[in-house]
This record gives sequence, structure tokens and C-alpha cells, in this order.
Amino acid sequence: MDRRSFLVKSSLASAGGMLWLQSNMLSARGGEEEFQVYVAEAPPYALDALEPFIDQKTMEIHFNFHHKAYTKNLNTALQSSAEQYRKWPLEKLFAEMDRLPDPLKTAIRNQGGGHWNHNFFWKCMIAPPQAKAPQGKLADLISRDLGGLDNFKKELTTSALSVFGSGWVWLVWNGVKIEILKTPNQENPLMNRPENNLFPLLGIDVWEHAYYLKCQNRRAEYLENFWKVINWDFVASNLPA
Ligand SMILES: [Fe+2]
Repeated sequence: MDRRSFLVKSSLASAGGMLWLQSNMLSARGGEEEFQVYVAEAPPYALDALEPFIDQKTMEIHFNFHHKAYTKNLNTALQSSAEQYRKWPLEKLFAEMDRLPDPLKTAIRNQGGGHWNHNFFWKCMIAPPQAKAPQGKLADLISRDLGGLDNFKKELTTSALSVFGSGWVWLVWNGVKIEILKTPNQENPLMNRPENNLFPLLGIDVWEHAYYLKCQNRRAEYLENFWKVINWDFVASNLPA
């Protein structure tokens, strides 16, 4: 399935899934041309809903200041960019990122990534009583490609601990299998991939702003807590049909 088909499929999903690709984007009229205005989507649960694993204060600062700042800066950068780029969907700007002129390229990498990654990240979590184990096709892939859930958790944690400085760890579908990837800063698996061959399933923010208030420097403790609030239904919904 190519990404266009994938997006059509996603836009038809009634809940969860990858509605983020369209739902975080509004059309606005600036003069005669239409351009994209992006919105920082609030987590689909109360900011204290992930307690005691992810604390309310961290969620408040993370969403209201970090996430919203990325989105605001993305919109500012697009408003001053050439008209053609304002009309491109964000995933196209990601796919063609290194061909963009600066300063737009840098803004898409940092602010666009920060905007998109956080919209996605919030949906990767769910209030702890509702967190379940992976099921169905996703569970089968974890067994087949990653040696089972325990080994997947171990490899994901090892990968997340090895991110130097700030970045993200992802579970992606590459068209053949699922695999774990790391990206620095606010980069993501959609960037510089015009072939659109990676599908993010799960994203974990390992910037210190995601855990420092509760866990200080203890990233491993944050990862252990994160594991308890993963929304596996959302992760599974990101698999192409
Ligand atoms: Fe973050």
C-alpha cells in the first residue's frame, strides 16, 4: 500500500488510527491563496489521566508549552514561506525535506517535527486502567519480528537509553516487518523518505522535558512507566491493512 492509499484508509478510520494526518490541519485563507494552519491537538484524555506513571505537571508543561510552541513556530515559518509550500501537506514537506530551501527546511525538521511528533505521541498513551497487551496481528508481528513482547520491551528500552541527548524512538512498519528506529531531536521516520516506505506505529519522546520533573535524569524509570500506558489499540491501528 502506498502512502496515498494509506492516508485514504486512515482518513476513513472512525477512531484512533492516523486521523492526525488530516485532523491537525485546517485550511485558512490568506489573500487569494489557501494555506495550512496547524493545531496542537490536546491529548485525548485529561492531563492527570496518566497518573501515577506520567504526572500531571509534566503533561501540562509538555503540552501547553513545548508542543504548542512547536506548532506556533511551524505556522509562523509556513506563513513566511513560498506559497507553494504552504499548500503542501505536512507529510509531503517531511518527505521532501532536504529539497526545501532554508530557513523552511530547518523549520520543518525542528518545528514541523515537534508539532507532528507530539500530536502522535499523545495518542500512543492511554489511561492506565485501559492499557492492554498487544493483540491480533500486532502481537503476531511482535513475536515474529522482535522475539516476543518481553524481548521487544528490552530492545525498545535499550534503544531509548542509547539516544544521545534528545530524540525519539519509534516502532515502524517498513513494508516487510516491524522494527525499532531512533531519530535525533524532533526528526521522525517520515522525513526525507519520498518513497513513503516507513509507517510509524509507536513513538516515544525521550527528551528530558518528557520526564525530568518526575524522574529527573532517570530515563529508564520513565520508560518503565511509559510501557504501562501504551495504547496498543492505537499502535495496531497504524498498521496498513
Ligand atoms: Fe516532547
